[in-house]
Parts: sequence; structure tokens; C-alpha cells
Amino acid sequence: MTEQLTDERETAIADAPARWWRDAVIYQIYPRSFADSDGDGIGDLPGIRSRLPYLRELGVDAVWLSPFYASPQADAGYDVADYRRVDPVFGTLDDAVGLIQDAHALGLRVIVDLVPNHSSAEHEWFRRALADGPGSPFRQRYHFRPGRGEHGELPPNDWESLFGGPAWTRTTDPDGTPGEWYLHLFAAEQPDFNWQHPAVADEFRTVLRFWLDRGVDGFRIDVAHGLVKAAGLPNIGDHAELHLLEVGVTPCFDQDGVHEIYRHWRRILEEYPDDRIGVAEAWAPTLERVANYVRPDELHQAFNFTYVATAWDPHEQRRVIDESLNAMRAVGAPATWVLSNHDIPRHTTRLMQPEGHGVAGRRPEPVDDAAGLRRARAASLLMLALPGSAYLYQGEELGLPEVIDLPAEARQDPAFFRATGQDGYRDGCRVPIPWSGDEAPYGFGPAGGPSWLPQPDNWAELGVAAQDGVLGSTLELYRDALALRRAHPALGAPDNLRWHETSGDVLAFGRLSDSAPEFRCTVNMSARPIRIARPCEPLLASGPMEYGPTGVILPPDTTLWWTAI
Ligand code: NOJ
Repeated sequence: MTEQLTDERETAIADAPARWWRDAVIYQIYPRSFADSDGDGIGDLPGIRSRLPYLRELGVDAVWLSPFYASPQADAGYDVADYRRVDPVFGTLDDAVGLIQDAHALGLRVIVDLVPNHSSAEHEWFRRALADGPGSPFRQRYHFRPGRGEHGELPPNDWESLFGGPAWTRTTDPDGTPGEWYLHLFAAEQPDFNWQHPAVADEFRTVLRFWLDRGVDGFRIDVAHGLVKAAGLPNIGDHAELHLLEVGVTPCFDQDGVHEIYRHWRRILEEYPDDRIGVAEAWAPTLERVANYVRPDELHQAFNFTYVATAWDPHEQRRVIDESLNAMRAVGAPATWVLSNHDIPRHTTRLMQPEGHGVAGRRPEPVDDAAGLRRARAASLLMLALPGSAYLYQGEELGLPEVIDLPAEARQDPAFFRATGQDGYRDGCRVPIPWSGDEAPYGFGPAGGPSWLPQPDNWAELGVAAQDGVLGSTLELYRDALALRRAHPALGAPDNLRWHETSGDVLAFGRLSDSAPEFRCTVNMSARPIRIARPCEPLLASGPMEYGPTGVILPPDTTLWWTAI
């Protein structure tokens, strides 16, 4: 099977430029919510497979699939019970291999999610650890500790789970008495591995090879900054509550020892042909610390969460863009950009929040949909004009808003039920996406079938079919932007951004290349229309523009790609 896959890779992606990932547009598929082939209300691999031509036509370079492995789904698949099996709800291993082959035949790369910080509590090792009792070898592969207090009734330290509540759960010994505690930085169903144990490192090296042998082009590494904890698991002190976004220096995250793991992994990736990559989900206190994950002998890319958390403000945007480019340049890695994913409110809604950047933890406020979409389109065109690699989240190309009014009984995010968790409102960006038709499930699954989260009544107009070929639709804007990004020599060139000074709340920069006039991107972040006074050839605009006698008029919250003439 491996040889056949290798042949297909050679024919399908032989023409792709080396180091494809340095400016790739990578589309995140959240399998549960993309396309449901069997009508059970949950998306699956055959569904994704059937929609690959759509992604090819959209113009992305690669897809990243959130986890589809065997899992009790306590955290939507980020609780893996078996890293080499596909969960029956998503399909079979053959479906996964077929999907990878089909994607390659279309010239699309496939990145899969790897969840090495924790397993599911249903993982065989953890079950053995519980069954075999204190002191047993399988307990060493996780973090088991006796409790504090006279009867061990207090957790071993003061760490809080990112989903709220203590990061420790007490076990019951085989004889029925209260026993040791185990560490879980996320839900109780997600025990953290002990990465000091050699069996854990060995296991993940073989998991990497398992999927590389099946043809995957890389891995998105979940909680990449969390694998190594400070020796002795010391108390945090005053701020024992953990938040991904408020990433101060803590004993749980971003420990220097974690980089040794990625140096090993880099060597494994390089044993394979065709530029396989590792992408870090690493929340670190500074962009410089994030850059440590993408040093030349470590991973290839790291998500830019500082960018996600930046307000819609020209000064803030310019600052984060500069800081990102500078930090990544220092280690020779490409910058990455992302506006939406499965953990944060969709940027149609998020960029309109009163605080400007309500990334996580709070229920988003309702916003004016039309204004939110206008701003989101402007932000997307800005992001796609930046040097480096961009991540799209399924449905953003349709302009989907965050679904903020899901009833409590429909919600499934485990953090919602832990009440104080920082991520409790993640279901609103996970609602299955609309493809066609006038009523739910809008082509997500068979007509009249269920969907695991309810879709809004007014999503027909946002479906792929309703936007396909429609001038000015968000789908056509993304298609045009991705086609231009591929075609324009300046947009493929690395690290060639130069700022243009502007007055007012306007962001303007150029991208230089030897073979074409300077590519320009101007973003009107002010509340008033602005005028581009010089003769200008518009290439693409995120919204309607006007041509006045003295130049092009750009309404508020609009981005224009253009060249000077
Ligand atoms: C980050 C993932 O993106 C999120 O969905 C998940 O809940 C946590 N890691 C824990 O795996």
C-alpha cells in the first residue's frame, strides 16, 4: 500500500514547488461538521472525500483534518483512545487512506491532527493504569500522585484545568477506597501523558510513522507546548487558573525540555520524501518563544494566536504583523496567519465584539450580521495578502457567522459544562456548514436528516450552492483571492512587505517582486470612506468600491488589492 501511495504522490504533486508549506493556504476541516455521507448527523471521511473537488476549486493547497481517531468524543475527538484506528463514526482506515490518495490526485496535501499531550481515559494504557493500581508500570506513563491533606483528599497541586475546575481527578482503587489523583490539563476524560517516560516517546514516534506511511503530508500538533511539565509539578501560586490566552510563564506550559521532542520528530519527518511538516499549536508568552518551536531543526510552522487576539485597529494590526514577521525571520521560518478555527468565535462575529477581540471564554455578543461580514471579508483579504502561510477554517469562505444562540441543551463543548472554563462557548463555530437546499441540514447530510448541532433557519442563503458563481459572494471573493495569490509573483515571494505611511485609520502595505509592479493592499479601518488618490488598477476588493473623479473610494471596513499605474 505504501508503495502505491508513493507512486501516486509522485505523479500528483511532483510539480509542486519545493518547500510548499512556506506560503501555503491550509484549510481546516472539522470532520464532524463538514459533510455527513451516512445521515447520522455527524460528518465523516467519505463525506469529506466527496467534497475534495470543491476544495480544489476553492484553490487551497492543503487540508488539515481535526482528529478522526477512535475516541469516546468527550472533547470532540481531542480525546484519543487509539491513535491508529479511525472512529467508526467517521469511517474506516481505508476511508482515510482513500481520502489521502484522492486529495493527492487533486494536488491537495493532507495534514492530520496529532494529540500527544493527553490520551482519552479510554486509552488502553490509562485503563491498565487504573486497573493495576498505585505503583504499577502503566501509572508511570501518566501523572498519578497521592493527594495532599490528612487523607489525601486535596489535589496534589494548585493547577486548574483549562476547561475549568481542578486539573486533578481522584481515582478509586480497585478495592473501592479513594486513591491517587491524576493530572488532566483539559477534561477529566483527557489524562496527561508523562513525557519523561520512554514508552510515551516511543509510542508517538511509531504513530508518526504509521500515518506518514499512509501518505500524510504533516501533523498539526495539539497543545505542542504542554508535553513537558516542570520537574516536581510545582504550585503556580496566585494565578493557579490556567488560560491559553493569558500565557504567562507557568510550570505546565512552554518548558524548554519540550523542544527535544520536536528535534526527534523533525528527523522522522525528514526520513520521508516530499516535505512533510509539523505545525505547532503552541501558546507561548511571546512571539519569540513561539518561534522556538520552528527553529530549523524543529517544526515547520506554528499558529499565530497573537494575530488572532489582535483588535481590528490599524496600529495594533501593524504592530502584530511586524512582530510576527520579525520573530519568524529570526529563525528562518515563515509567518503564519489565522482568523478562525474550531476553538474561537468565527471572525465575522469576533472582530465586532465590543472589546474588539473576544477570542475565547465569553459568550460573544450579538452583532449586526451585515457589518460583521463586511469587516470579516476585509480582514480575510488583509490576511491573504501577508507573506507566509494562511489557515482558513471551514465555512469562513461562506461568511458564516458564529451561532451565538445555541440552546444549552444542544451544546456539547465539555468546557461549557465545567462552567468556569475558558473555552466554554466553542460550539457556536462548530455548527455543520451549509452546502445546498432551503432547509436544514442544507446538504450537510441527506435531506431531512439530523445534524449534531442545530443549524440556523436562515443559512440557505449562505450555502455553497447559493453563492457559487454569484458575483460578489463571499465564496467567489475567496476563490478570486486564492487564485490571485497563486498567480501574482509578489504574493508568492517571501518576506517582501513594505509599509506605506497613511493618515487616519488606514493600513497600507506593498509586496515587491522583480517581475511585476508592486502589489498593494489598502485596508480602510476607519468609520469614513477613504480615497486612493493615485491612478490605480484595482485587482480585488472585499466590498463595493466607488470610482470618483479623483480616484477610487473605499468604504469603511473594506480592503482593496491593487497596483499603481
Ligand atoms: C486544542 C484543541 O484545538 C481543542 O479543541 C482541544 O479541546 C484542546 N486542544 C485539548 O486537546
